[in-house]
Amino acid sequence: MKKLIFIIFGSTGDLTSRKLLPAIQKLYQDKDIPEESLVIALGRKAYDTNSYLEEMNRSIHGQLDLRMLNKIVHYHQIQITNLNEYERLKQLLEQYADKATRQLFYLAVGPDLFIDVSRNIYQSGLVEKGNETQAVIFEKPFGHDLESATKINHELWEFFTEKQIFRIDHYLGKEMIQNLLTVRFANRIFEDVWYNRAIKNVKIIVKETAGIHNRGGYYDQAGALKDMVQSHLIQMLCLIAMEVPLSYYSEDVKNEKVKVIENISIEKESIVFGQYDGYLNEEKVSPDSTTDTFVFLKAFVNTPRFKGVPFYLMTGKKLDTKQSVIIIEFEETIEQRKWNLPLSTNKLFIKIDPEDGVGLRLNSKVPGLTSKTEEVELEYFTSSSNAFGNKSEAYEKLLLDAATYHKSLFTRWDEIELAWRLIDQIKDLEPTLHPYHHFDDLKAIILEKDEHAL
Ligand SMILES: NC(=O)c1ccc[n+]([C@@H]2O[C@H](COP(=O)([O-])OP(=O)(O)OC[C@H]3O[C@@H](n4cnc5c(N)ncnc54)[C@H](OP(=O)(O)O)[C@@H]3O)[C@@H](O)[C@H]2O)c1
Repeated sequence: MKKLIFIIFGSTGDLTSRKLLPAIQKLYQDKDIPEESLVIALGRKAYDTNSYLEEMNRSIHGQLDLRMLNKIVHYHQIQITNLNEYERLKQLLEQYADKATRQLFYLAVGPDLFIDVSRNIYQSGLVEKGNETQAVIFEKPFGHDLESATKINHELWEFFTEKQIFRIDHYLGKEMIQNLLTVRFANRIFEDVWYNRAIKNVKIIVKETAGIHNRGGYYDQAGALKDMVQSHLIQMLCLIAMEVPLSYYSEDVKNEKVKVIENISIEKESIVFGQYDGYLNEEKVSPDSTTDTFVFLKAFVNTPRFKGVPFYLMTGKKLDTKQSVIIIEFEETIEQRKWNLPLSTNKLFIKIDPEDGVGLRLNSKVPGLTSKTEEVELEYFTSSSNAFGNKSEAYEKLLLDAATYHKSLFTRWDEIELAWRLIDQIKDLEPTLHPYHHFDDLKAIILEKDEHAL
């Protein structure tokens, strides 16, 4: 790849300032992308490149390297819903791009704009159907239910080939999610126990302490179930529950994930929806909103490998701690059961955020003259760090993969379609919405549904 151009729609938004620009900056500084790379930032606000970057930098408290970004970013004002304005953009792009230039059209906008923007980049001739040097990247959520997602997808296939379409689920770019298949399939100790015979339950937890920031306009239409479970949590469940793929090539892994989604059933009576106190006062939230900011549910994967094993999925905002983790709890040993020993069960922790690593909880004798036992944890943390001293971000990996034509970490249409089909089955339920101030307010309600859920 000699040249790379990012064309970002929605470049004035939160995603671009907090994720995309820092990721591009890091890739450029580390020389992971060519020196001739360019970012064309598109927005309807009247900025020049300088004032645009300054505003972006202000919004993330000065984390951007403005001198560096000034070399590669060009802000271009455009009304992205107006086809007539694309001619100027096309001319601009032609100044920089030749036939070999990898062009990534990144739609960092809500799904309601996907069709209009896609049609415009196609009809203006900016993107040519089948030209694989051009890719179009779509942020999640891909639609807001099965019907809207299907409509978007059918339109996209009019304009682009599947090879050109990249649907992002940024959780798949996270270090430990990528590592999950290695932990699972490259360690002999797990091979014989990755079955319902040995696994008691699986917990998939994504808790946040933050609220919805200023994203009320989007979030109030979505809620925790659609925003998180439909995409990130189901994807994680698939990686835990899938069969061994034919190979680790993208399509083979996706084929196995799809089989899992087809076999998921959600226990409707188990669902707990919550809404944090103060949500109704958030900006752009309807004052009588019934949107869920918390959801818990129990699901089953009806395959021979996992039949009967409960998968507890839980996610929400304004909770006690920020934590993304998958916990696989194993059955008691035969001795434990036979003698009813007061021992804990073994647990494998896949820690995703904010720490990322693996933990294995075992029983061990307390050292010394005592015969007591205790639970101990073997822990491994990954220590990748980026320019800001944080872990490397999912978006660096995803942008680099898209630039280098790798699609493994992007979702295929049938994964999204089946996940929406599943969520649509429960979206119209009108269960009680539990208000909560602390996570403790929800615990008893969840435990009443299932005593093993927490
Ligand atoms: N923020 C995240 O961390 C994150 C993570 C995952 C997925 N996403 C998804 O990514 C998308 C963008 O998120 P965001 O947080 O960046 O949202 P945002 O802060 O609200 O920004 C939305 C962007 O879209 C532009 N826009 C909105 N309506 C428009 C219209 N009618 N015509 C032209 N431009 C329009 C806005 O431009 P103006 O500035 O001119 O209004 C802004 O640049 C959403 O679908 C979101 O769900 C976001």
